[in-house]
Amino acid sequence: MTTTPVSPSLITTLPGLYYTDPEIFRQEQEHLFESMWFCAVRSADLATPGAFRTVQVGRENVLITRTRKGVLRAHLNICRHRGARLCTEESGEVRRNIQCPYHAWTYDLDGRLIAAPNLVKMPDVDRDAHGLHKVALREWLGYAWVCLADEPPSFEETVMGAAVERLGDPAAIEQYGTQDLALGKRITYDVKANWKLIVENFMECYHCATIHPELTEVLPEFADGYAAQYYVGHGAEFGEGVKGFTVDGSAGFAKLPRVTEDQDRRYYAITVKPTVFVNLVPDHVILHRMFPLAADRTVVECDWLYAPEVVESGADVSRSVELFHRVNAQDFEACERTQPAMASRAYRDGGVLVPNEHHIGMFHEWLLGKLRHTNDLGDDHAGPVH
Ligand code: FES
Ligand code: FE
Repeated sequence: MTTTPVSPSLITTLPGLYYTDPEIFRQEQEHLFESMWFCAVRSADLATPGAFRTVQVGRENVLITRTRKGVLRAHLNICRHRGARLCTEESGEVRRNIQCPYHAWTYDLDGRLIAAPNLVKMPDVDRDAHGLHKVALREWLGYAWVCLADEPPSFEETVMGAAVERLGDPAAIEQYGTQDLALGKRITYDVKANWKLIVENFMECYHCATIHPELTEVLPEFADGYAAQYYVGHGAEFGEGVKGFTVDGSAGFAKLPRVTEDQDRRYYAITVKPTVFVNLVPDHVILHRMFPLAADRTVVECDWLYAPEVVESGADVSRSVELFHRVNAQDFEACERTQPAMASRAYRDGGVLVPNEHHIGMFHEWLLGKLRHTNDLGDDHAGPVH
């Protein structure tokens, strides 16, 4: 293979290995998904005490429950006795306590060991010390974010900070009141692609004119291929005749009560690294959570969130759902089309980023730093931020 010299307009991407290698994926599990805050579950999905959801976070399975007091708790889904997985279902409800199906050690919803066969004959056993392994949990935007690190990084800086960095104003995301919205629709996508291809695709709009006809009708500036959404504070403006963020530009719903005039008729996109995208439009919020399961497989749960009265009234949300569902399907198809090439000799040294995509180079720099890989991709790799 000959190496193509890179011109100043083009900077290199990561080599194909980064999208296929199980060892690099393991390092990402360790240094990203198990070390950073990971958006695990929508809080309202666990509505009643005893409701649980199990979520794969890196190499660990985490059990999230709502306690009798109504708070959410996260623990490793592993019995302290001999390690049986406690809950094998993805979601469900336990009656009062969590009982291991192997030898019946029993934990309350706060994770404390409360009963076990013959436990009374072992008075020296400290029930707190043999409770479930706790996992840090924070709630924001109506979602439970968990962190497996012994010393979690600052939630304010690493999670909430992404919205501030993108919108330029700490109050801006609050205007949407996302935590008070109701779920209008959830679609789960099983994408046969590396999670980074999905992030990179979300970060650029060079592809919008080619693959997103409906989106570029609603947001004409996206047709220019410029990732305008990555200018600090800028939201892409709806086209002139467009009435709402819907598949045909027809009217949506009343704008959310605290959305400001500046935010009206605009679309804002936020990437909360590593696995969350937040999309803000005047009358709803679309939130993507990625669950990277293998180097070449990522499950994406996408929630469409509306004012509670919209959902309660049974209003037809299908036109707004359809717009971003099509965008998702178009994007994920592109990612799946790209994934096989990552293992090809054609991509051994990676591909290239055009100026409209140079900010993706910053994502690559960030990733290499987290994995503690030295940057041998060349000094031209770090592109300017748009
Ligand atoms: Fe759970 Fe024995 S492994 S009670
Ligand atoms: Fe796209």
